[in-house]
Amino acid sequence: MSNHSTETLDRPTEAVRQVHELARTDALLALHAAARSADATQLEFVLATQRIMRLLLEDALGRLQHKDSTPTTPIGATFPGRRRVQQETFAVSVPRAGDALEAELRAIVQDARLGKILIQRDPVRKVPVFHWSKLPDGLAGKEVLLLDPMMATAGTVKMAVSILAGAGVRPADIVLVNFLTCPEALEKLFDEYPEIRVVTSFIDEGLTEQAFMHPGIGDFGDRYYGTYR
Ligand code: PRP
Repeated sequence: MSNHSTETLDRPTEAVRQVHELARTDALLALHAAARSADATQLEFVLATQRIMRLLLEDALGRLQHKDSTPTTPIGATFPGRRRVQQETFAVSVPRAGDALEAELRAIVQDARLGKILIQRDPVRKVPVFHWSKLPDGLAGKEVLLLDPMMATAGTVKMAVSILAGAGVRPADIVLVNFLTCPEALEKLFDEYPEIRVVTSFIDEGLTEQAFMHPGIGDFGDRYYGTYR
């Protein structure tokens, strides 16, 4: 976990500490710089964010429950490894932006069992509105990856967690896979769901008055899917 400073924000500091943030290596900062630049083309945005999403997803998969596994190697030695406790990989995405994470997950885990919860923010009031969901059967009691790259006010993720809870998934069994968030969102999420696990590629400085993350990346869905040119 990185130990960057959020001293100007007393309460969110605690929330930030609960999160696993990818290490701010030069490689990660270069990818973020490429994606965050307002001059990035759609292709440049997609290429940079896909590489970051792969890192995030491998990290998130590693946070699911594991147990010891000791295979014998070709020279007859024993390797002290680990393997997942739950055989199946369950993941639920929040379209549209969450579909980008879903595509990257499918490239790593081809037989992942995938659900969707369609929640869209009202563009004016910035509040989430639930439209539709389709969840895999047998989800109750399972560990689940929740895929949504952006968390600004946390309204969308909190709604998605409550829908998963209604389907029998414990918040402690959810790993939120998040590309970009901010201390205010983390505080709100952990206030309501202190047990949830969060993996993110970057915690930004904060929210602007218009509920944009700062320094931010723009609208992830619009940039990834090329909605506007
Ligand atoms: C974005 C994003 C999150 C949500 C985050 O989706 O993908 O789902 O906003 O905001 P919040 O934390 O303030 O709730 P949006 O509703 O803009 O739809 P999109 O994925 O189609 O762009």
